[in-house]
Amino acid sequence: MNKSHVPAAQRSVLGMLIDDHREAQKLFKEFKSAKDSAAREEIVKQACMALTAHTEIEEQHFYPLLRDADPKAFGSLLNEAKVEHASAKDLISQLQAMKPADDLYEAHFTVLGEYTNHHITEEEDELFPKVIEKDIDLRHLEAPMQETKEQVLADASSA
Ligand SMILES: [Fe+2]
Ligand SMILES: [Fe+2]
Repeated sequence: MNKSHVPAAQRSVLGMLIDDHREAQKLFKEFKSAKDSAAREEIVKQACMALTAHTEIEEQHFYPLLRDADPKAFGSLLNEAKVEHASAKDLISQLQAMKPADDLYEAHFTVLGEYTNHHITEEEDELFPKVIEKDIDLRHLEAPMQETKEQVLADASSA
């Protein structure tokens, strides 16, 4: 989804989420061309942190607002999203306990990338267009989402 086509009531929030999606996809691409294991480890760290913050802002703010606004329209998509987030979080916690030299380190990150791409496609091709179609006003979510994101990133980098 191209964020320049998003109407004003949804633009700031969907724009923020789309930017996060592109950032994650960039990191998964960079991993493939990373020159050594230190570079790969750094990319994994960044991606895990960014995905943790992203899933958190969606789960704390974005998904509940949609479910409240129109449970019938959004319920099943949001249930799927929740299961997909849970799989991603599981892989992230496994990766965070691994070392780059571990046999399945690369496989874990590759699968996380595949899950993430699938989930991004569902959000951008199904969920976000429905948010626009139903004209859900997201403007008041921008500030709390930004705040939660900064909080999660600060917690992660001090951990
Ligand atoms: Fe997302
Ligand atoms: Fe999501």
